[in-house]
Amino acid sequence: MAHVTLPREILPTDGRFGCGPSKIRPEQLAALAGPGSVLMGTSHRQSPVKSLVGQVRMGLSDLLRLPDGYEIIAGNGGSTAFWDAAAFGLIDKRAQNLVFGEFGGKFAGAAAAPWLEAPDVRKAEPGSRTVAEAVEGVDVYAWPHNETSTGVAAPVERVRGDEGALTVIDATSAAGGINFRVTEADVYYFAPQKNLGSDGGLWFAAVSPAAIERIERIAASGRYIPEFLSLKNALDNSRLNQTLNTPAVSTLYLLDKQLEWINGNGGLGWASARTAESSSALYAWADSVSYATPFVADPADRSPVVVTIDFDDTVDAAAIAASLRANDIVDTEPYRKLGRNQLRIATFVSIEPEDVRQLIKCIEYTVERQG
Ligand SMILES: Cc1ncc(COP(=O)(O)O)c(C=O)c1O
Repeated sequence: MAHVTLPREILPTDGRFGCGPSKIRPEQLAALAGPGSVLMGTSHRQSPVKSLVGQVRMGLSDLLRLPDGYEIIAGNGGSTAFWDAAAFGLIDKRAQNLVFGEFGGKFAGAAAAPWLEAPDVRKAEPGSRTVAEAVEGVDVYAWPHNETSTGVAAPVERVRGDEGALTVIDATSAAGGINFRVTEADVYYFAPQKNLGSDGGLWFAAVSPAAIERIERIAASGRYIPEFLSLKNALDNSRLNQTLNTPAVSTLYLLDKQLEWINGNGGLGWASARTAESSSALYAWADSVSYATPFVADPADRSPVVVTIDFDDTVDAAAIAASLRANDIVDTEPYRKLGRNQLRIATFVSIEPEDVRQLIKCIEYTVERQG
């Protein structure tokens, strides 16, 4: 199908709408190429990079409003590595995993490790979600704050009636874009390539005193834990503003700039108002046209940072995404394994709400000529 050429006046200033890796603001990239360049190619065991790690840990503590006793820890390998690290060093015997998309399912897979009891997996159809329920013998309750594959957001709230268990939240696509109370979680972990406007490769986690106690107890228990996946190692190294092995210094630098920007503008409250403004423009538009509907049926479950929009048979969403791409508006394709006639659009904090409004015009223009 021929691509539609979009008029200049409706183009967004930045065409990156992908859900990860996602838009990195030009100001961050300019800072990396400018003052940041002296850090590149220098040792992560020396003070310039260690100070940067310390600053990032401080910036995240401010952003997430950590109370006394909570700490920021970090390691290499992204959130995917954290799932395995949790199976080795955080789940005592059994996890309950809420699965309402690809990423919740991946943690459930890691929690099915042979040295643990089979996880209690609570599944919901993509586009909806399940809730955690107190079950005897479960010591970790886990779910994504935002399921990136479907655009479903779930509240961060402890399971009542199970005080000894840990609440472990995958915040990979939520951290820095959705408001919440960190005291409702024991572990809030994420990688920084989404709202946090950085690149991939690292994981970070805010951990509560109860989570620290669990990490230390399992590490001392004699369970086999590979060094790379040891949360105790991550804890000890993080306290020294280091990672076990070499981190991507540029990822740390870009993250630091993003934290400075979000915190300087008012923190999580400001960021979540901004993502709400962008996402509600898209949901309202999808509700207003005959050929599109928000994929997530319950408005309360609709993500403010990952918007999924289904199209009816009169529109070929893949052709729309391809045509947008030909105009440098990229990564609006749906999650590859969902297999729907859909567009998925990130409304992370770096993305200008005005650019989202322009994107809507671009989609309409394309549908009218191609749909
Ligand atoms: C909710 C969620 N969890 C985990 C991951 C995996 O993160 P990483 O690629 O850093 O391992 C992603 C990546 O998109 C994600 O969206």
